[in-house]
Amino acid sequence: MKRVVVVGTQWGDEGKGKITDYLAQKADIVVRYQGGNNAGHTVVIDGKKYSLHLLPSGILNPNIDNVMANGMVINPKAFIAETAKLSNFKLHISDRAHIVLPYHLELDKAYEQNKGDEKIGTTHKGIGPTYTDKSARLGIRVSTFIHPERFRSRLKELIEFKNQELLHYGKEPIDFESVYQEFSEYAKVMKPYVKDTSYFLNQAIEHNKKILFEGAQGVLLCLDHGTYPYVTSSSPTASSVPLNTGIAPWLIDGAIGVTKAYTTRVGSGPMPSEIHGDLAVRIRTIGNEFGTTTGRPRRIGWLDTVVLKHTKRVSGLSYLAVTLLDVLTGIPELKIATSYNFNGEEIDRIPADIEDFMACTPNYITMPGWNEDITQVKSYDELPQNTKNYLSKLCELVGVPLGIFSVGPDRNQTIMVQSFFEESTHD
Ligand code: IMP
Repeated sequence: MKRVVVVGTQWGDEGKGKITDYLAQKADIVVRYQGGNNAGHTVVIDGKKYSLHLLPSGILNPNIDNVMANGMVINPKAFIAETAKLSNFKLHISDRAHIVLPYHLELDKAYEQNKGDEKIGTTHKGIGPTYTDKSARLGIRVSTFIHPERFRSRLKELIEFKNQELLHYGKEPIDFESVYQEFSEYAKVMKPYVKDTSYFLNQAIEHNKKILFEGAQGVLLCLDHGTYPYVTSSSPTASSVPLNTGIAPWLIDGAIGVTKAYTTRVGSGPMPSEIHGDLAVRIRTIGNEFGTTTGRPRRIGWLDTVVLKHTKRVSGLSYLAVTLLDVLTGIPELKIATSYNFNGEEIDRIPADIEDFMACTPNYITMPGWNEDITQVKSYDELPQNTKNYLSKLCELVGVPLGIFSVGPDRNQTIMVQSFFEESTHD
């Protein structure tokens, strides 16, 4: 495969950044196609940890091109902060991506406060309000943002309008002049990277370049196919890549479904296989299950193959990349949810309505765990038999072959089982 999508198969935080960084060593281009700095991608190289939010996870490989595509929403302030920590990278920003502005952050908080107990638990990064404005034709594209006069008049018009909404929620109005002064400086820094990235990608494809498309969040947070309304405001599925990057659908060769060996979720909303108590605390501590973006403790659950089969259907998955296997070491018995009970019926799909999904209770199978330290394993054959059994049962239940597994946070603790993405020549 030459053009591959890295998809989060659960509720995000599956380790997509780590898998993208690993595969990026064999790629020519890495493309982020949706979301913004709500994402948190952790990459560890030779023991050094990098937290990325906005930039594609290929940015730490100086030889390859990184693209922030039209489907993204970009907070310029966050962009400046993140790039300031890096040197020696190749980056291209879509002129059609949308800009996150200070009123989006304020409105994100206001909507959440207004929802009270029903809040989504957003990251408060202004992502929802920015995508709302894009759909309402009230957004600011990068192409306008980098054009000082056009940005000035569009921002002035929008701030007047947005301030009325802020006042309605009891928030302070935003001062146009200071936002303009601050953000027009950011625009100058971003401008050299801006181009028509659809054109760039199509040319690269004509030259047979190898491309990774990096999803943020997970498919259960997809606006269309996730656990609505407890979702983000974009689509992390492989099927959203053509629209969000400006390439033809048939140019995508396949998708790698990054799957945590158990389940986690941050924010509100149903999670049928959730577990509580000592075991959840143990997994959270060993797996360092705290949000990269917000620091919030993540909710913990058993692996749920109903969720994974849903993702396979709505997104498409060619291989699984199973991460954080080492976190399960020492747990005597491991459960896997294989179906749900819903209204007296056994189902293996996710009901559309959130109240129906909340009423689902999972049916589990139980697998024996393993005690051996697997963190230094370098091949599938070296894994303990019970770990192999767990992996093969997972793949059998989902109906997708294993492509990669990982046994620790470092780049060199990632093991490729199938060679689906060959070495690049970097010509
Ligand atoms: P938003 O994307 O900030 O609007 O948040 C909507 C939902 O998506 C909330 O439940 C967030 O916790 C969740 N979310 C957003 N980004 C991520 C992520 O990168 N990992 C996991 N959950 C996320």
